[in-house]
Amino acid sequence: MKIKKKTFGCLSTGERASLFTISNGTMSFSVTNFGCIITSILVPAAGGLQDDIVLGYPTLEGYTANPVYFGCLVGRFANRIAGASFSLAGKRYTLPANDNGNCLHSGKHGFHKQLWKAQPFTSRGEAGVVFKRKSPSGEQGFPGNLDMKVTYSLTSDNDIIIRYAVKTDAPTPVSLTNHTYFNLAGHDSGSVLDHQVQLFADRYTPVDAQAIPTGEILDVAGTPFDFRSPKKIGQDIEKVAPGFDHNWEINRSGDAPNPVAGVYEPTTGRSMTLWSTQPGVQFYTGNFLSEEPGKNGELYGKHAGFCLETQHFPDSPNRDNFPSSILLPQDTYRQETIWHFDFES
Ligand code: BGC
Repeated sequence: MKIKKKTFGCLSTGERASLFTISNGTMSFSVTNFGCIITSILVPAAGGLQDDIVLGYPTLEGYTANPVYFGCLVGRFANRIAGASFSLAGKRYTLPANDNGNCLHSGKHGFHKQLWKAQPFTSRGEAGVVFKRKSPSGEQGFPGNLDMKVTYSLTSDNDIIIRYAVKTDAPTPVSLTNHTYFNLAGHDSGSVLDHQVQLFADRYTPVDAQAIPTGEILDVAGTPFDFRSPKKIGQDIEKVAPGFDHNWEINRSGDAPNPVAGVYEPTTGRSMTLWSTQPGVQFYTGNFLSEEPGKNGELYGKHAGFCLETQHFPDSPNRDNFPSSILLPQDTYRQETIWHFDFES
């Protein structure tokens, strides 16, 4: 296991962002402490050919804008909160309204735009970076001072593991995720509609025209949301135009990471399997990408990548029937999400 550190760039504040590359001899990934953003994942395929399988920008400047949330850690609350507000213990909190009057991914200046403290580590069969940050009470409108520790690592078994631990001094919603866009054929290979996806989820949360959950939790059987057996992303996508951008309820048994999804790319033979401790996963098929200028001059178009964002259900601070996303001072928010990569050699 090897870790390399270099300067990624300088922010307008004069602070330097670092880029860490972690390699296990077979595959590698790079992550910056600006927004805890994964900037590349290099994975071999048949014949040993390596491709970078995540969408992103060539430089730090790209990530300081990043309107589409490439690769980043999202928080305090991933996904949407209706009306950009919620009530907790009789008090109303107002959040940035950056998406049709709703709050998406905690606004434009969320955790993905912050510089985190970073410390690389290596242990037996695993190496990575520990990121730390304190989020003050009132940041993005949320109550409670947060103390956060997030670890991104690579194992000798080709797993990328993200572990999150958060403490608060006052009750507050917390739901963190990583927003990496994958294209297992290579970031610059066009549409992901031929990837085969399986979701270990019997139910999903339908949404209204603004992508706000209606509050129902419905069976996927007989709907385009049925991914219980592997199916091409493109098979039913037109029935849900402009594409999939929904939360599925992960089938769970116990607190250990549960299987979430399997994805297979037939032309390269690459596949990826996900596990997570979270109750939900947002499967998003890059519906709003439109000529986004990325690495190597690539212009990423609609469906050029997919995201599997493990999370609490969207709008759960306003929905009593969804699993609670409220972190209490006596508890610790913990999440573990594992991405395992396979390739035919
Ligand atoms: C949301 C999409 C949004 C995308 C980029 C996803 O998590 O569900 O609606 O366009 O993030 O912000």
